[in-house]
Amino acid sequence: MSILKCVSCQTEYSLNEKYYTCPKCDGLLDVVHDFRQWHGKAQQLKDLFDDRLRSWNPVDRSGVWRYRELVSPDTPIEAIVTRGEGSTTLYDAPEMLAAYAGVNNLQLKHEGENPTGSFKDRGMATGVTRAKQMGAKSVICASTGNTSASMASFAALAGLQALILFPYGKVAVGKVSQSLAYGAVSVQVRGDFDAALELVREAANSLPVYLLNSVNPFRLEGQKSIIIEMLHQRNWQVPDWIVVPGGNLGNSAAFGKALMEMREIGLIDKLPRVAVIQAAGAAPFAQAFAREFQNFEPVSAETIATAIRIGNPASYDKAVRTVMDSNGWVTTATDQDIMDAKAKIDHAGIGCEPASAATVAGVRKLVDQKVIKGDEEVVCILTGHVLKDPQVVIDYHSQTMSNIDANFPNKMHTIYGTLDELVEFLPGNAAVRL
Ligand code: F0G
Repeated sequence: MSILKCVSCQTEYSLNEKYYTCPKCDGLLDVVHDFRQWHGKAQQLKDLFDDRLRSWNPVDRSGVWRYRELVSPDTPIEAIVTRGEGSTTLYDAPEMLAAYAGVNNLQLKHEGENPTGSFKDRGMATGVTRAKQMGAKSVICASTGNTSASMASFAALAGLQALILFPYGKVAVGKVSQSLAYGAVSVQVRGDFDAALELVREAANSLPVYLLNSVNPFRLEGQKSIIIEMLHQRNWQVPDWIVVPGGNLGNSAAFGKALMEMREIGLIDKLPRVAVIQAAGAAPFAQAFAREFQNFEPVSAETIATAIRIGNPASYDKAVRTVMDSNGWVTTATDQDIMDAKAKIDHAGIGCEPASAATVAGVRKLVDQKVIKGDEEVVCILTGHVLKDPQVVIDYHSQTMSNIDANFPNKMHTIYGTLDELVEFLPGNAAVRL
């Protein structure tokens, strides 16, 4: 049986308690599984996961539930909520993009290929399944836009009412429209994400609503599957680095837990180093890392990457554990570098939203600083789809941003509609008529 365990005071609780944090010390809770039955049986698990790739059963096709022995071993199959999340592509970066990042071997796991366009669907599959099991009728979250889009969709599918709190005016248009479209009650809070999350925590403790921010440990169990699936795709060969953007630090937390559990079972025999990249204007975790995690100071966050515009990350303690356990790293990327890296990822035909591009910008910086070596294998996690934030794409390429230069612009052209005008745009200006 799995249990809940406080990461601070180590107190254990039954899985059926409706606690989001430790009632004794307010520490974060882990879902701790008993993996003893799998010790020495890693090959059996690998074969099982391989077999499921041939199945049309929705719980096997889901890139979360395919790995159910690791993410939610106690959930009965009938209770599972799924939208076919996960099973996202692991791209080998084209040469021009790898060269831009400064490494020979770069892979991009595109979590924007999830049903609502971000990695949040993985945690929402397990989170909403849990909400239903707990008998919830309503679910609540604060969000910079992707958690909410995902929760709105999964809640609608599961027949739950969704209540969403947004930071005022700072959510990308694709994300707001998803929340409205999927029928969530959508509320803007006059404040930032951190203020909205505080109100959500208060609401979840005093109203009959189930909290689905990533402080809920069942969310993180689903998000572990990003790493499990990526390693499955690499035939369990561990890269040197996994690079992830850091905002509320849920993913950073989930990645370390996934890696430690996979090593315990024997699915992998060593750990990759996890590098967390924050936007320079929203970097309390990077600042704490620079102080060797001696203390934590929240910040007032500002960045063009609105997904990670967060100054007081909820999963801080667990993310510290990931960085310590994996001998990892934390750094920042400026908005300029994020937008330039995004232009390169987009131009490669892969595309992502700004927060995701912080990974490639971060790799470039860490190669420059000789933290990452050019011959090391690097996997970047692209967390959201290019269409989540179309406005920044238009603004960048039309060069109308006040504080960002478009170093790799692709301007829109306008013509009256004649062939003579059109030939001007042919590659190499090859104005030869057939
Ligand atoms: N990338 C994207 C596209 C995100 O939406 C988020 C977080 C992150 C990175 C950061 O991940 O919080 O696990 O460190 N978005 C949350 C939201 C905060 O509300 O959608 P994290």
